Amino acid sequence: MTDLLPFPPGLLVPGAGDAPFQAALPLADLPPGALRRVTFGEVDVLLARTDQGLCAVDDRCPHMSAPLSIGSLDGCVVACPLHGGRFDLASGDPVQMPTTGGLRPDGTYEPVWTPPGREPKEDPPGPKAEARRLTRVRRFRYYPVRVVDGIIEVAVPA
Ligand code: FES
Repeated sequence: MTDLLPFPPGLLVPGAGDAPFQAALPLADLPPGALRRVTFGEVDVLLARTDQGLCAVDDRCPHMSAPLSIGSLDGCVVACPLHGGRFDLASGDPVQMPTTGGLRPDGTYEPVWTPPGREPKEDPPGPKAEARRLTRVRRFRYYPVRVVDGIIEVAVPA
């Protein structure tokens, strides 16, 4: 019996509660600590075998959509390869904001990352800086997942 990661209420992918389960990959292909992308039509799903159980979310960083499947997993925390953001799959929240700064899920602003002991880095004004400043990191949304006869199945809306 494989544990499933319990996720916070209200964070189910819209429509996924009624979606049929579809085979994703053998559980044996996702050892503890592994991340894998599985694609259903136009949807890329990230399967994560965390230390608290198995879960399925979009394979898109909650910051700017980079593929988390080529990041790394430490316990329940997945690290994005693009801007250094780290996100907790157990809570759905960021534990380290991306180096670009921006908005937390609750809308509070986080400045551009500055190395310790350095003066805060100036973000040159302009539309790109404005886009970084206004990008809100969202909380994860979760797909229902289960294991049947050794095969991981995910409920993905059509
Ligand atoms: S896209 Fe993942 S931290 Fe920016």
